Amino acid sequence: APAPLILGIESSCDETAAALVDGDRRILAHRLAGQEAAHRPFGGVVPEIAARAHIEVLGPLIEGALADAGKTLADVDAIAATAGPGLIGGVMVGLLMAKGIALSAGKPLVAVNHLEGHALSPRLADPALRFPYLLLLVSGGHCQLLFVEGVGRYRRLATTIDDASGEAFDKTAKLLGLGFPGGPAVERAAALGDPKAVPLPRPLLGSAEPHFSFAGLKSAVLRARDAGIHTPEDIAASFQQAVVDCLLDRTRRGITRAPGATALVVAGGVAANQAVRGALEALAIEHGLPFSAPPLWLCTDNAAMIGWAGVERFAAGASDPLDTPARARWPL
Ligand code: KG4
Ligand code: ZN
Repeated sequence: APAPLILGIESSCDETAAALVDGDRRILAHRLAGQEAAHRPFGGVVPEIAARAHIEVLGPLIEGALADAGKTLADVDAIAATAGPGLIGGVMVGLLMAKGIALSAGKPLVAVNHLEGHALSPRLADPALRFPYLLLLVSGGHCQLLFVEGVGRYRRLATTIDDASGEAFDKTAKLLGLGFPGGPAVERAAALGDPKAVPLPRPLLGSAEPHFSFAGLKSAVLRARDAGIHTPEDIAASFQQAVVDCLLDRTRRGITRAPGATALVVAGGVAANQAVRGALEALAIEHGLPFSAPPLWLCTDNAAMIGWAGVERFAAGASDPLDTPARARWPL
C-alpha cells in the first residue's frame, strides 16, 4: 500500500498550524500562525484571545497547506487533530474543524494526544530512531521522563511535582522583564551573562526518584532580582544553568530506570534550547547511547508532529469516533 497521507491540525495553545505528512516521513506542507503579538500586552497566553485567533486563521491555513502540497482532501487518508491536553477553547476549534472535514470528506478522524505528538516527533525527523527509547519531554505544560515502548505505549517514569520546565522559563522571563514568549528570551539573555554569577538552588538534585521541581528555582530568581546586585543577563544565565543541571541529573537517574532503551531523546518546546540539547547529548555520549532531538521548529508546537502521530496511529489501525471529546487534561 502507498504511504498514508495525513492532514494534521494543532491548536492547543497559541500556535495554529496545519500540515500534510506522509508515511515516508515527508512533510509535504506546513503552515503555522503564531499569536505572540496578540498575547504580548498581557505577558502570557490569554485563552479567549487564543481561541478566537484559532477560529480566524485555521480554515485558510488548511487550504493553504493543501495548496502548497498540490493535494485535495480526496488525496488525504485521515484527519489528525490535537484533542487535548491544552486550552480547551483552542482544542475545541481544531478538533471540531477536523471532525467537520472528516464527516464531509468521508475520511477517518485520528484524535491525537498533544503529548503523544511531542513524544513521537523525534521519529519524524530521525528514521534511525527505534523503540524503546528514553524521552525527556519538556514543554510549557509538562516535564516528564517517558519510556517510549511503542505507539500508544508510554510508561511515565517521572514528572514534575510543581512547575513545568517551560513554565519556569516563562516565569523567569516575566520576572526579569525579558518579554514574551519567555523561553527564547531567557536563552538570548543567558548568552550575554555568566552562568556562575548567581548562586541558585538545584531542586531535587541527587534524590532517588527521578522527579523534577522548579518552583523553588523561580522563587530564588525573584529574590535575586529584588536583591538588585546582579544583571538580568547574569540571572538568566545562572537560571538556565540551574535548569540544565536539574534536567541532566534527573535524566541520569531516569536512565537507570530504563534498561533496554536504544536512545536518549529530548522533545517539546524547551528542547529548542541549545544548552539543554548540548547537555543531554553529552549525557547520551557518557552512557554510550545514541542521542536524538528534533530540529528546533519541530520542538515547539507545530502540526507536522500531530500529522506524524496520526501517521503512526493510523498505520497501527487506529481511528476515533466523531463524538470524541476535547480534553483540557489528558495524561498520556
Ligand atoms: O511544546 P511547546 O511549544 O508548547 C507546549 O506544549 O507547552 O513548549 C512551549 C514552551 C514554553 O514554555 C517556551 O518558553 C519554551 O517551550 N521554549 C523554550 C525555548 N523555546 C521555547 N525554553 C527555553 N529555551 C528555548 N529556546
Ligand atoms: Zn506542545
